[in-house]
Amino acid sequence: MSQMVISVDPLTESNCYILAEEKKCVVIDPGESGRLFRTLEERGWEPELILLTHEHCDHMAGLDALRERYPHARFAATKICNDGIRNTRLNMSRIMEVYLYFRGKPGIHYDPFVCRPADEIIGEDAQILWRGHILRIVSTPGHTPGSTGIFLDEKVFFSGDYLIPDEEPLLRFPGGDAESYEKITEPFLRSLPAGIRICPGHGEPFVL
Ligand SMILES: [Fe+2]
Repeated sequence: MSQMVISVDPLTESNCYILAEEKKCVVIDPGESGRLFRTLEERGWEPELILLTHEHCDHMAGLDALRERYPHARFAATKICNDGIRNTRLNMSRIMEVYLYFRGKPGIHYDPFVCRPADEIIGEDAQILWRGHILRIVSTPGHTPGSTGIFLDEKVFFSGDYLIPDEEPLLRFPGGDAESYEKITEPFLRSLPAGIRICPGHGEPFVL
């Protein structure tokens, strides 16, 4: 990948990752649109592909605005994630004010919202070829039913709301499932190879 930039949502501190090759890019988790648009414009990058690590609102609050501005960008999601973004309970936007309160941001007004459905439904083990790179999707249920990790060329792993520095995975939100986490996701995360670069949904990337 020639370049990777992180755009952080100041409200929820969610990371949006932009992977660029020449002037085209992939956007993972557009959690807001203001900073993201500025970054894209400053660099002259045009999104071609949009992916989500999961269906929570803090990872896709900028999704529809991004698609409106760049109508040629293809938004691909698994069926479960696509169901989740269209449900205010599963996408957590309905309880975001409470969540923000407990994250030390009281008194913030947050309107529940849903997003438009994906342009393309992909499998939970899909591989997407993009400009010479392979983006490999892996289902990681537990935090949400539609959580997926995304490998970039097997060298970088976008972990969503797992492997956040100094935080245990949150499994108690609507749709959260500790059993799936313990059965599927925890063993998978433990099997990630040492040396791989982890790009979490919050906090700084690090090398495993
Ligand atoms: Fe989340």
